[in-house]
Amino acid sequence: MSDLMRFGVSLEKGLLRDFDRLINNKQYANRSEAIRDLIRNSLVEDEWKKGEDVAGAISLVYDHHKRELMNVIVEIQHDYQDIIVASQHVHLDHHNCLEVIIVKGKSDKIKVLSDKLRAVKGVKHGSLTLTTLGREF
Ligand code: NI
Repeated sequence: MSDLMRFGVSLEKGLLRDFDRLINNKQYANRSEAIRDLIRNSLVEDEWKKGEDVAGAISLVYDHHKRELMNVIVEIQHDYQDIIVASQHVHLDHHNCLEVIIVKGKSDKIKVLSDKLRAVKGVKHGSLTLTTLGREF
């Protein structure tokens, strides 16, 4: 952190009060840390929009009693093994499984994979967590 730069920000009183409340709820140490995080989130979003090389995690919750569903999920993953880094399967309870798939590659391709998996009939919930390879910042 040797090349820190300072800049001033003007905000309406109410907006600043809301921001401080948010900072407190989210356990940030101070405003600077919160603003840094907001900026990084915007930069990550931008990388994803531009179709750059990114990283992420696809989470799926599904009923493992539906055998065909598991086969479909595995089939799709084999078609995208070039962007799948690892996957972890957790048995949540007697019926439900959670699968987390770590991905790395072009954002467009990752989105397609995520959409395909989430659209499989019987998947109860699916989400894509966007993050970065961290090269730019
Ligand atoms: Ni399971």
